[in-house]
Amino acid sequence: MAGTLKIWVTRPLFDDVIDRLREHAQVRVSAQDKAPDAQALKQGLAEVDGALLGLSDRVDADTLAGNTRLKAVANVGVGYNNLDIDALTAAGVMATNTPDVLTETTADHAWALLMAAARRVGEAERYVRAGHWQGLRFDQFLGHDIHGRTLGILGMGRIGRAVARRAAGFGMRVIYHNRSQLDASVERECAAHYVSREALLAQSDHLVLLLPYTPEAHHIIDATALAAMKPGAVLVNIGRGGLVDDVALAAALRDGPLAAAGLDVFEGEPNVCAELLACENAVLTPHIGSATEATRRAMANLAVDNLLAALDLGQQAGDPPSLINRELKRKR
Ligand code: DGY
Repeated sequence: MAGTLKIWVTRPLFDDVIDRLREHAQVRVSAQDKAPDAQALKQGLAEVDGALLGLSDRVDADTLAGNTRLKAVANVGVGYNNLDIDALTAAGVMATNTPDVLTETTADHAWALLMAAARRVGEAERYVRAGHWQGLRFDQFLGHDIHGRTLGILGMGRIGRAVARRAAGFGMRVIYHNRSQLDASVERECAAHYVSREALLAQSDHLVLLLPYTPEAHHIIDATALAAMKPGAVLVNIGRGGLVDDVALAAALRDGPLAAAGLDVFEGEPNVCAELLACENAVLTPHIGSATEATRRAMANLAVDNLLAALDLGQQAGDPPSLINRELKRKR
């Protein structure tokens, strides 16, 4: 029987997963798969004890002002740049995310983008569909090799390491840059070598961005960084929009030095800048890095586990499995 606590699920999710919340609380699920505006989010959060949030639901001090009820928010996603963690902690609201369960799936998609961009799959596919193909031409859609080349990774967290491990099958040299160098044993396991950011830009034939978005990382790949990249390089952004200056990227795809790009995330998504849309050599996907049935289910289930634990409901009572603001861990 549903209890007296109230939960808001701000996006429609797998109904059977939401049923796990309905067993313990009164649940409202938004009908539309669309971010509520700031006012609706503020008001909705003031009326509930917990919420399951989408990655574009921005919660900050303004959203929380005057809210005395909310105890927990569970992001359905690993990245949480939509949440002001300091403001949530100050308000005593637990915040959680969904790490680990999407690592391998997202690494797969990084490779899908890398390969599609390097081998011009998008352009070639559009050409065939448009009925332009007149027969095999020896010099048509010449792309860039992946095997034997240098793979660079900026941001060597869980997903970065999973991307690196896959490179062994392509006989690649793997270099990375990260806030801090990994332990030697982890470097060995991924066969990856730590280099400076400058060396990463200069030496990568294929560069994958996998760092979290923070104000310091805003436009970490700007016109200057793009100009420092290897001529003919391929850039993949599967981290976050805002890491790359998308207008500068479009210029680098048009005028060099880049050969191609594979992008799953965009500044100001779901809007994509017109300059990028005009680039035939950019493969664009709509933030689907973790989008397989199994992984999206696992993410939804982990978010539910987190929320149940944070609200002390059912068998999940205890600290949420992936609590971000660990200062709020309960002392037991
Ligand atoms: C995340 O979880 O942060 C991903 O961007 C979702 O695909």
